[in-house]
Amino acid sequence: MRKKVRLVSTMSLVVLMAFATIEFGSSIAQETKLKGDSKAGESKAASCTTCHGEKGISENTMWPNLAGQQEGYLVKSITEFRDGIRTEVTMQTFVENLSDQHIADLAAYYNGLSPCP
Ligand code: HEC
Repeated sequence: MRKKVRLVSTMSLVVLMAFATIEFGSSIAQETKLKGDSKAGESKAASCTTCHGEKGISENTMWPNLAGQQEGYLVKSITEFRDGIRTEVTMQTFVENLSDQHIADLAAYYNGLSPCP
């Protein structure tokens, strides 16, 4: 009887771990779902260059450089501006209508630029 209880609890632990692994796997898959295309991002970045510079290096000290920035961070910050989580009127106007794919492409493009002018 005792053995049986232990077996059942071991089995439920295994099942739980399997579920946890599947959960974890799917959240990773979600994060990497969209692959950015830097070539497409380059042509989509035309409206950004006014402030963030021709090659992602800004000439105004109040506007951030984007060249060489981490791709994931770029996706996160642009998405947060689009969704109104991060607020800055100038920026939001330029990204409010972007799709997730558009953002992924922009992020891939800026990530690939050299951070040194
Ligand atoms: C009119 C000027 C302007 C334009 C055009 C503009 N931005 Fe910005 N951007 C800003 C300013 C100003 C900030 C800093 C906002 C703040 O203080 O939070 C910023 C911040 C950002 C950030 C966050 C950087 C960081 O280090 O946190 C990203 C990413 C970004 N912009 C991407 C873009 C992209 C992509 C486009 C084009 C679709 C764009 N911006 C167009 C002015 C602009």
